Amino acid sequence: MEKTFLMIKPDGVQRQLIGEIVNRFERKGLQLVGAKLMSIPTNLAEQHYGEHKGKPFYDELVSFITSGPVFAMVWQGENVVELTRKMMGKTNPKDAEPGTIRGDYSTQVSQNIIHGSDSLESAEREIALFFNQNELIKSENLI
Ligand code: CMP
Repeated sequence: MEKTFLMIKPDGVQRQLIGEIVNRFERKGLQLVGAKLMSIPTNLAEQHYGEHKGKPFYDELVSFITSGPVFAMVWQGENVVELTRKMMGKTNPKDAEPGTIRGDYSTQVSQNIIHGSDSLESAEREIALFFNQNELIKSENLI
């Protein structure tokens, strides 16, 4: 079954949106198979956002994501990568439709509440960066 990595960023945690966001994915019918509230060390932030190194916003991005706790999650379900990206809305909140997470709760691209893997390959890479295998619930243990 397909898995994706989603992370509520420091702005979402600080604004107490964890419950609201988790609720949206649960009501959709997706399954939470791993989650933790954590502070991201700089070296992990740099690995996670490696593809953006050299871009004008890179330093701000790394400094923001390490500025406070994040809520890291692994969700499972059919087409979960595509579905969760639709539910998050466009990266830039000014383009994100109302009804999406970024469309409803954010106004700035640098503080856009949530990150989600953009492909199955990035999902695999990001899950492995943030979670040990033994921190994830196995499919056979789900109801
Ligand atoms: P995310 O999905 O976490 O992936 C990379 C992040 O970079 C993105 O969400 C935005 O928060 C951030 N980002 C993208 N473009 C810009 C930009 N022009 N200025 C600041 N941050 C940006």
